[in-house]
Formats: sequence, C-alpha cells, structure tokens
Amino acid sequence: ITGDPAAGEKVFKKCRACHAIDGKNKVGPHLDGVYGRVAGSVDKYKYSVGLKKFKEEGLVWNAETLAQYLPSPKDMVEKSKMTFKLTKEKDIENVIAYLAQISGV
Ligand code: HEM
Repeated sequence: ITGDPAAGEKVFKKCRACHAIDGKNKVGPHLDGVYGRVAGSVDKYKYSVGLKKFKEEGLVWNAETLAQYLPSPKDMVEKSKMTFKLTKEKDIENVIAYLAQISGV
C-alpha cells in the first residue's frame, strides 16, 4: 500500500456523506474493516445485483479492487448504487491507505 493514510483521512470526508465507520449503514453500507472484507457482505444492507454477485464470487476489497472500483463504480458493478466517483489518482491511493489503516492492515 503506497498511499498516505493521513491524507486519505481528509479524502474520506467526501465518503462520510454516505458511509459511516461505526457499524451503521447510511445511504451506503458501513465501511468498518472494508479493506480485506468480502464485497456485498454487510448484513441488512440492500446491495445492487452486481455487488451481490461479487459476494457469491468471493471478491475481496483490497488495493487492486478498490483502485478499480472508486474511479467509476458503475463500470465495475452491475447496476451500481454508488453514484460518486473519486477520480484523482493520488486521492484514490491515499484513501485506500486510510481504509487499510482503519481495517488494521
Ligand atoms: C458502496 C467506498 C463514497 C454510496 C461502496 C463500497 C465501497 C465504497 C468499498 C462497497 C462496499 C461493500 O461491498 O460492502 C466508498 C469510498 C468513498 C465512497 C471510499 C469515497 C471516496 C460514496 C458516496 C456515496 C456512496 C459519496 C453517496 C453519494 C454508496 C452506495 C453503495 C456504496 C449507495 C452501495 C453500492 C451498491 O450496492 O452497488 N462504497 N464510497 N459512496 N457506496 Fe460508496
């Protein structure tokens, strides 16, 4: 993981509109331990068909899969419910480092 978690914490402010990291779902599922978590696996969250498929396939969120997802979720996930895109390469790298840190990786 090459990013800077402190810079990533600032980027994560954009995500907080829809994602909590205290176990509660908002517009999006909570992101506790998301780095290393199986996609589509938060209990009681109603995921898109694409994330349900990823769960069945056992896709795991890590540096590679998050770097593919964040710039354009709809290009990776069938009927994606996440409309937000994070496009700056540095921001992506840094937020991934932050998500790894909060996941204890
Ligand atoms: C799903 C990350 C910003 C709404 C997800 C997932 C991740 C993620 C990793 C998949 C979770 C899982 O499989 O359990 C992020 C990050 C963000 C961000 C890092 C900021 C850079 C946002 C924003 C919104 C949003 C701003 C709302 C405007 C959603 C929704 C889902 C989702 C609705 C469910 C997608 C689906 O079922 O297809 N997000 N997100 N996210 N996110 Fe975000």
